Amino acid sequence: MPDKLKSQSISLTAKIKGVNQMRKKIIVISLGLVLAASMAQAAAPNGKALFQKNCAICHVNGGNVVNPKFTLSKKDRYEHGVKTAGGIVEKMRNPGPGMTRFTKKTVSDKDAMAIADYIMKTFK
Ligand code: HEC
Repeated sequence: MPDKLKSQSISLTAKIKGVNQMRKKIIVISLGLVLAASMAQAAAPNGKALFQKNCAICHVNGGNVVNPKFTLSKKDRYEHGVKTAGGIVEKMRNPGPGMTRFTKKTVSDKDAMAIADYIMKTFK
């Protein structure tokens, strides 16, 4: 092989190697992103499951088996001034007669907010 061709072929091989390295880097980075995203999802509290576990005994399907005037429907909640997710959390911390109290120890603020969000979007 003539010298010129040889050196061209060497530099071409180097370029290809460079591209492959870049590809590998991109693949590793995207794998990392997918992993991070799925981990973030796993860490997010599941409002529905937490509601089923803590609230559904009395508030089955968003109703109220103890006091039927206090369902989780928007209409009932608004009538009693419970209008926001924060208001629902406040109710868990300071419930009225017949409702279990949920402290930060039994239901963390993060979990309480997830339950509240679930209630707001599920019971209209
Ligand atoms: C032992 C039964 C019981 C459990 C368990 C219970 N509640 Fe209640 N809930 C009640 C009763 C009774 C009321 C009405 C008295 C009052 O306002 O606190 C009520 C009222 C409410 C209201 C106000 C509804 C309105 O129309 O004004 C919200 C919001 C609420 N509960 C959320 C929850 C959430 C969230 C959970 C779970 C973390 C929960 N409750 C668990 C019995 C319960």
